[in-house]
Amino acid sequence: MPKTINKIPAGDPLNIPEQKEIIDRILQENEGAVGATMVVLNELQSEIGFISQAMQAYVAEKLGEPISRIHGVVSFYSFFTTTPRGKHTVKFCVGTACYVSGINQIIDKAKQILNIEPGETTEDGLITLELCRCVGACSQAPVVVVDDNIHGRVQPNRFPRILQDIIKSETE
Ligand code: FES
Repeated sequence: MPKTINKIPAGDPLNIPEQKEIIDRILQENEGAVGATMVVLNELQSEIGFISQAMQAYVAEKLGEPISRIHGVVSFYSFFTTTPRGKHTVKFCVGTACYVSGINQIIDKAKQILNIEPGETTEDGLITLELCRCVGACSQAPVVVVDDNIHGRVQPNRFPRILQDIIKSETE
């Protein structure tokens, strides 16, 4: 049995038969194809919802790639996540315009209210915080993207309202 198999945490998709089947199918379908790494990672993110460390090691082994390469791709593109995303994603644009317009103060506010860091999900699985690159709405900086909706010119004191709207949408 390959070494990486022994290190898989209990709740990892590789230990859940239905998800393992999906992972193996994606790998088999793309084996030997040009650009297989990107295609496989994209499909895993879409179908499983995230790419765990164990999944990265498994993909590296199956595609015969160094684990550092797989890890490099996953950490470079913000589209990929290594843990499951919450039901709603709140992204903070850290592009130049948003940065100089004070996005950091809004990030601090979010961290203070939700008690999580960007890249993490609230315990109830409702909200994931993420950082993202420029979303093309620089004239509205600083920008926060909730799921697919852009909120422009967000001020720290307006941010709690955005979170309240998310919570309210769940209780309606
Ligand atoms: S820098 Fe934030 S939208 Fe462009």
